[in-house]
Amino acid sequence: MKILGIETSCDETGICIIETGENTDNPKIKILGNQLYSQIALHTQYGGVYPMMAKREHALNLTPQLEKCLEEAGMLKLKVESKKLKELEEKVREILAREPEMCGEVIKLTEKIERPDIDAIAVTNGPGLEPALWVGVTFAKAISEIWNIPLIPTNHMEGHIVVAPLVNEAEPKTYTLKPINYPAIALLISGGHTQLVLVNEENRKLKYEIVGNTKDDAIGEAFDKVARILGLPYPGGPQISKLAEKERQEFPDKKTSYPLPRPMIHSGDLNFSFSGIKTAVLYTVKEIPDLTDSVKQEIAREFEDAVVEVIVKKTEKSVEQFGAKTIIIGGGVSANKKIRTDFAKLAEKLGIDFMVPEFSASTDNAFMIALAGYINIMSGQKPEKDFKANGNLSL
Ligand code: KG4
Ligand code: ZN
Repeated sequence: MKILGIETSCDETGICIIETGENTDNPKIKILGNQLYSQIALHTQYGGVYPMMAKREHALNLTPQLEKCLEEAGMLKLKVESKKLKELEEKVREILAREPEMCGEVIKLTEKIERPDIDAIAVTNGPGLEPALWVGVTFAKAISEIWNIPLIPTNHMEGHIVVAPLVNEAEPKTYTLKPINYPAIALLISGGHTQLVLVNEENRKLKYEIVGNTKDDAIGEAFDKVARILGLPYPGGPQISKLAEKERQEFPDKKTSYPLPRPMIHSGDLNFSFSGIKTAVLYTVKEIPDLTDSVKQEIAREFEDAVVEVIVKKTEKSVEQFGAKTIIIGGGVSANKKIRTDFAKLAEKLGIDFMVPEFSASTDNAFMIALAGYINIMSGQKPEKDFKANGNLSL
């Protein structure tokens, strides 16, 4: 089965084509093409992502990314004779009414090339920035209509979970899925989410129950805001992480001069709060007359220590509460080195499995969407035509 994944929930325009093997119990999953256009350089200038700007960039980039991806997959075949898609054009114009420029590009490309041999299209329909999501959804609907390919709406957060059990095979760009010991606890940490999810499997269908959530900011948002306070560029997560690591290497045993709170660590429930710690950093910085690089480094380390301590503690608590046999971490913040190390240690201490996506699959990408689409098709999800983008879509 060949699946095309489309991701536009935030600031990455992703298109990916995967091919899965015949063995339905543990199929090989091969990436045939994987294109990711990052808008980070654009958003860095403004210190964050503006939804309407993200939307415009997705609209500009989706068609060329699709063409590149098909070419990479060896699936781009020019038509011998370019034929007008007269009968379809009206329908496509209707679907893409809100994206007139993209509409022209889509029609031009699909008139030029043969229908690719793709069995399904999986597209992120939420959660995320709604205007950005809509571009991906309408684009997917248009090419699904033109090429008559079934369409599977896909949850972005599920994508972040399903890439964690992937194991690299000897062949390049080829993976299998390591079986998960259920129940599992998935900690989803990204720019928009901080959730503890209880994951179970029933009749080959994955079941999710959100058992912990943030009451205010997401952890990635806190990384980004603290970075901004320290004068570091967007996205702040990797910047903070780099400074914190340097501080740990240079001063492994140093007691911090800028202690920060561990928000809600003893709250007794599985919820989180990250807006207070951002304010605490702001007040700390206001008191410092000279915010030198070495001070920034020390604050970055204390901030990272504080938030990681909280997520480790809450995850441990949830594992005990639900008798989990596996810890999964996913979402952009799971690219963080300290988080990966500390969670591996936690799982070892508890004697349970630990799964984390490889670095390149941690942050937003379309591979995870194609994979989630495949898993859901195999467990019986039916294609849909009339669905909406939903910025607040829940698991
Ligand atoms: O999942 P993702 O790519 O996009 C969303 O769905 O939000 O996550 C992006 C978030 C940003 O807040 C970014 O700063 C954070 O992930 N991030 C990191 C690291 N790499 C990315 N945070 C901490 N350490 C990192 N190494
Ligand atoms: Zn994400």
